Amino acid sequence: MKERNQSKASDILPVPRTKAEAKRLYDRISPVYDYLTRAFERKPAEMALGRLSLEEGETVLEIGFGSGHCLQRIAESIGKTGKAHGIDISRGMLAVTKRRLDKAGVADRVQLYRGDAANLPYGDNTFDAAFMSSTLELFDTGEIPRVLEEVKRVLKLGGRLGVASMSKENGESALLRLYEWTHKKWPKYVDCRPIYVEQSIRDAGYEIRTKERVKLFGLPGEIVVAVKAGRASEYADRSG
Ligand SMILES: C[S@@+](CC[C@H](N)C(=O)[O-])C[C@H]1O[C@@H](n2cnc3c(N)ncnc32)[C@H](O)[C@@H]1O
Repeated sequence: MKERNQSKASDILPVPRTKAEAKRLYDRISPVYDYLTRAFERKPAEMALGRLSLEEGETVLEIGFGSGHCLQRIAESIGKTGKAHGIDISRGMLAVTKRRLDKAGVADRVQLYRGDAANLPYGDNTFDAAFMSSTLELFDTGEIPRVLEEVKRVLKLGGRLGVASMSKENGESALLRLYEWTHKKWPKYVDCRPIYVEQSIRDAGYEIRTKERVKLFGLPGEIVVAVKAGRASEYADRSG
């Protein structure tokens, strides 16, 4: 099993660009991000958010919130008694999202933070749910387990993780090969690439609750909801 997972990991393409380059790219495209990606990313993101079944009063984290369309929905779902947090590496995305949340009248229940999700600035066992759409697949292969481990650390026991991502799970297709070719050629600009979503989440020690395969403009995607399961004693020594 381990060998199979290793061979799976080895056919995931690397993401050979620095965090500074990622920040520069997203800063640059933040004013037009919605127009560039609405047709590809919005539907699976909203499907994944629906699968998380957020409730009034919950504390929820979104990683890589981009222009903030999901963060706005999260803030609306948790109501006035809930609290949403968002972390994104791009200052430009922060500015766009802040404007969106102000306009929607929900900014008071959302805390935005600019930083790298590989080191989350939140305490252990803080969140009822965490969410990532079109973001897990832009971390380099070795960093995906680190990000998932960080998310697990900040989730409460029983907390849910919802992920929408491009996927390599459905095998090869001409379109997938073409997309991977563009990623290999321009990794600084086409930084997302297909990964094994469910497998990565399972390998990070979560329990899978729901999984679906979807199409993102003809490219394969996965929507996965998982929980941080286990006993409180497994996590207690890392608090404080
Ligand atoms: C492809 S966009 C997806 C945005 C949004 N989730 C959506 O579905 O429209 C990826 C987002 O992740 C952010 N990002 C990239 N690297 C990051 C990192 N290391 N830590 C936190 N956010 C990061 C980018 O700034 C960008 O806003």
